[in-house]
Amino acid sequence: MATPFTNLLLKWNQHTNDRPMPWKGEKDPYKIWLSEIILQQTRVEQGWDYYEKFLKNFPTIFQLAAAKDEKVFKLWEGLGYYNRCKNLLFTARHIVKEYKGKFPSTYDSLLLLKGVGPYTASAIASFAYNLPHAVVDGNVFRVFSRYYGIATAIDTKEGIAIFNSIANENLSTSKAGIYNQALMDFGATVCKPMAPRCPSCPMKKNCKAFTQSQVNLLPVKLKIIQKKNRFFDFFIFKYQDTYFIQKRGLGDIWSNLYQFYLIENERRASLNTAYMQKYILEPLSISKQNIESMLPSNVYKQTLTHQQIEARFILVALKKKPGIFTKALWLKKEGFRKYPFPKIVNDFLKIAMAKGNSGFSF
Ligand code: ADE
Repeated sequence: MATPFTNLLLKWNQHTNDRPMPWKGEKDPYKIWLSEIILQQTRVEQGWDYYEKFLKNFPTIFQLAAAKDEKVFKLWEGLGYYNRCKNLLFTARHIVKEYKGKFPSTYDSLLLLKGVGPYTASAIASFAYNLPHAVVDGNVFRVFSRYYGIATAIDTKEGIAIFNSIANENLSTSKAGIYNQALMDFGATVCKPMAPRCPSCPMKKNCKAFTQSQVNLLPVKLKIIQKKNRFFDFFIFKYQDTYFIQKRGLGDIWSNLYQFYLIENERRASLNTAYMQKYILEPLSISKQNIESMLPSNVYKQTLTHQQIEARFILVALKKKPGIFTKALWLKKEGFRKYPFPKIVNDFLKIAMAKGNSGFSF
């Protein structure tokens, strides 16, 4: 149904919106799906290059489905939330195998795909097939809570129901794709979370929050995410010119990525003899005499949605390979680029492997 909001939004989109993005106007559901999975927890500026890189490597769903896991994970490196990457591969293979590579073309069948929730299904359904499904997420809630001056918390059952129904009332059913993209762009460039561009907003006369000076008070959110602090010590065992790495398991962050030997602590521990004895020498049966040298790095940090990670990297040169590690992966430093690592590990490697860096003898 077209409301005054809908008309103002579509007019703004036609005359003022000049946000360029490579997936804009795209009709190929494979490319739309790819862009939407990348953008699920990633900012547009960051996702842009990944989208182009993925399309260059995998121009069609057939190439993506046939790719080796490691190659896809390596390309995904730096984007985080690796479940998205796992689901991307699973879904590509599923569509090739079950539907001969033809993308599902209804909202309900899109929703059945792994990694595709209501937002992504609405985006694909509207962009590729112009089906009348409204995208609803935090950005959409923000725009409507301001425009209609609604102070019901957006993270409550009641708030979600109210904003969902408003989102559907305002959807342009005949131009669903254009409307949805315009709404995303409007939320990202005009009705922004911080410092919204109210003076030049085409909605300002109709916007309750603006006319009642409530813009910075809306939307209302009840819960503040408490981040868990985690302290990681990555031990980089070096034997001759090879380094120990291992694959992470499932059930925690960074599933299936690679890392150096990891000890996690509840607080920042001092790297003293007792610590080494308790966490390294004893459990790994490494004798003190076997350690040629030890060199700790600075502290590196990474913020995730629910966690704050602090990591140190400790280069431990060994004279003999410890028996416990014989089955592990020992790589020359040139081999690192073949394996996907968490961002914090790559941040460290980038600095440690830079030419002229004297701190680490990589
Ligand atoms: N976020 C999710 N999907 C998007 C899109 N198509 N354009 C811009 N931001 C988005």
